Amino acid sequence: MQTSNQTETQSEINQEMMAAISKLTTAASLLLIIIAVLFWQNYSALFGKKANTSAVNTASVALPILSDKAQKGKLVFQNNCAACHNKNMRTDLTGPALGGASTRWAAYPREDLSQWIRNSQAMIQNKHPRALELWTKWNPRIMTSFNSISDVEIDAILAYVDEVYAEH
Ligand code: HEC
Repeated sequence: MQTSNQTETQSEINQEMMAAISKLTTAASLLLIIIAVLFWQNYSALFGKKANTSAVNTASVALPILSDKAQKGKLVFQNNCAACHNKNMRTDLTGPALGGASTRWAAYPREDLSQWIRNSQAMIQNKHPRALELWTKWNPRIMTSFNSISDVEIDAILAYVDEVYAEH
């Protein structure tokens, strides 16, 4: 026979056990949630990284590989010419597409094209045939003068123009 004291002790033990089990269950659930979150984060990080890598690879395949000279020309072009001349070298913008420009000036000394880039309006006033041809089509749009641009920079720009144009 149990005394009432014994019954009370028994029920206290039961209550403590129940409380302990419930704490354990809560702890286990929390742990599971943490593991799930960590797993998911790693998984998406891995996944994202994979997707990025393939995007970079595709881009580097699609980009033209420029010579050192053209790489320098690209910078000069971006800083001075890109406001008016399309960087795809094929489509007109404020100014004409530059792709094939060297060929269009090939009938004249190379110096003429450099002179044009330094001061196009002077070439028009001097009635240079290619300058007049351009002016007939594009006036009243006036190309900026680049009086202090060096031969090396002009060469580099033209190399850049040719290489981008050849890529398409
Ligand atoms: C403010 C706009 C503008 C800027 C900046 C500009 N250009 Fe031009 N460019 C023109 C226009 C407009 C023409 C067409 C001719 C004209 O209207 O004078 C032209 C024509 C040309 C031509 C003749 C193309 C052909 O088919 O014969 C060349 C080459 C050229 N530009 C090179 C350059 C270079 C190189 C730079 C940078 C150093 C440059 N341009 C910066 C507006 C510009």
